[in-house]
Parts: sequence; C-alpha cells; structure tokens
Amino acid sequence: MTITRREVHGPTPCPVVDPEREIIHVDCASHSYPDGSIGIHDMCFHVMKNEIVVICGPNGSGKSTLIEHLNGLLTPSQGKILVQGRMLSVAERSDLWRVVGVVFQQSDDQLFAPTVLDDVMFGLLNMGLARDEAKERAMQALSAVGGAHLARKIPNYLSGGEKRLVAIAGILAMRPQVIALDEPTSDLDPVHSGMVERLIIGLKEEFGIGVVVATHDLDFAARIADRICMVKNGSVFAEGPPAEIFYDTDLIREAGLAIPSGIKLYLDCCTAMGVVPGKRPVRQVELVAALKEVHGKG
Ligand SMILES: Nc1ncnc2c1ncn2[C@@H]1O[C@H](COP(=O)(O)OP(=O)(O)OP(=O)(O)O)[C@@H](O)[C@H]1O
Ligand SMILES: [Mg+2]
Repeated sequence: MTITRREVHGPTPCPVVDPEREIIHVDCASHSYPDGSIGIHDMCFHVMKNEIVVICGPNGSGKSTLIEHLNGLLTPSQGKILVQGRMLSVAERSDLWRVVGVVFQQSDDQLFAPTVLDDVMFGLLNMGLARDEAKERAMQALSAVGGAHLARKIPNYLSGGEKRLVAIAGILAMRPQVIALDEPTSDLDPVHSGMVERLIIGLKEEFGIGVVVATHDLDFAARIADRICMVKNGSVFAEGPPAEIFYDTDLIREAGLAIPSGIKLYLDCCTAMGVVPGKRPVRQVELVAALKEVHGKG
C-alpha cells in the first residue's frame, strides 16, 4: 500500500465501495453548519473490519465533523454515508449505535446519568439487557479503562480525564463493530493514556473491531495506526500506511503538522552519523532496532 493523494478541490470520485471489507464508507460527503461554516467537503473515507485508522489533521480541519457523521449525529448536505454497503434510511439511523459507537471530543456531551455506573449501563439497558447482565458488562468496561473505582460517582463531579475514561467505557460496553474516538487521550495522564492506547490495540486484535481515532498528535498516531488519513480544510487529501505518510516530510508540512518525534530523532541521527536512512521504522521497537543499526554503521 502506498500513499493515495486526492485533489482537495475538484470532484474526484471516491474509491468504489468494498462491502466485503468495509463497514463504513463516506462517499464524497460535504457538511455545512447553519452559520455557513464548512465542516467537511468532498470527504472520502472508509473504515474496515479489524483495522485502526487514524484521522490526522490540524485544528479546524474537519476531524470531529467527520466523526459525527459516522454515527448519524450529523448528516451530509451532499454525498452519502454507507454502512455495511447500503445507505441508511432515516429510521435506521437511530439504530446505528448498534454498529458504530462514538466517543466525542467533549465528554460532557456524552455523560448525563445520575451515577457513572448508570451512565455506562444506559446503552446496555436500551439494548434490552437484564439489569444484572448490564451491570456486569458495565463494570467490565469500567475496569478495562481503569475506572472501576468511579462507578458510584456523579459524572458531573469527575475530572476531565475521568470523564473521558467513563465516556470510553460507555461505548466499549456496547461492543459495536466500529468504535470512533475523537482525541481520546488529549486530557489523560501518561498512565491512563497508555491504558487507552492498549485498549484501542486490543479492540482490534482481540475483537476484530474497526477503530477510528481522530488526533493531531502524530506521536500517538504512530504508536497505534494501521492506516493514516491526512485531513486538511475538510477533506482527506492523502492516505496510506504510517511508514509512507510519516516519512513524507513535505506532506506532513502541507498538513500543518509535525513528524512524530521518534521518527525525527531517527532521521536526525542518520544525518549526524552520515548514514542514508535505509528503513522506515515507525513503532518504538522498530526505531530502537534501526537506531542500533545506525550506531553500528556510524
Ligand atoms: N457547530 C458548528 N457551527 C459552525 N461551525 C462549526 C461547528 N462545528 C465545527 N465548525 C467548523 O467546522 C470546521 C471543522 O471543525 P471540526 O470541529 O470538525 O474540526 P477538528 O479538526 O475536529 O478541530 P480540532 O482539532 O480543533 O478539534 C471548523 O472550521 C469549525 O469552525
Ligand atoms: Mg475536533
């Protein structure tokens, strides 16, 4: 897989739908807000089973607007969204949460029940689970994010990071086929960030779930992504594997972002040692191995 570039202006058609592998297909979708602001335009995006796709772009590039289309919270003014190969009717849209769960950028948008446990159980009870089963699944989800101790607290009084963990648990508990997380670690400390990162990888590896993450933190993206979609001005303008995207310094600059710090360190070491970078390491273990090799050559 190499980088696919897309003209941001100009109606280049989206790639065709692959219903065998895709769960969600966003086909040339545009959305304007009531005040005339353009949230996304000509947006092409898809989510496959068993992959972690990371939407990377600067502030205001349309990441949250795209994510809010994935569960039907927003609908495109032009273009369409297909779920499992077909367009949803308005009636079906209200049932979309069974397929796609979204953890919003602002956790306050998601939490409303009197206690944390009630909040995490809410969706499960709506799905028709008995109270005991819903409670057990809610507690499992809270434990998975390191938030079991919060179960009896009032959501309103939680810290920003605690709210984030509870919001993630609420979606996790429902076990949808796709989980989309908007800036999931932005207000978490390193321990809880690491927990959420491992959880994201586990969702894919253990449950075959398609995971979508929106972030402008390319260090985080480098640690988790199978595929990167670079967004600017409301459209995906390039997508590809992390090893291709993150080594294209012009592309990263064009996106208004900075290359992941581990990769920058590797490239700087290669320059300092007079070595031509032979590989494209992305993950920590690959970077350590590649740096050892550079050291041996220098
Ligand atoms: N409710 C709204 N009303 C009007 N304009 C909006 C609204 N929500 C978003 N926008 C605009 O849509 C564009 C895309 O915003 P969006 O929130 O999707 O960006 P983002 O990539 O998620 O940014 P960030 O990294 O800051 O979260 C921005 O220009 C923003 O000002
Ligand atoms: Mg956002």
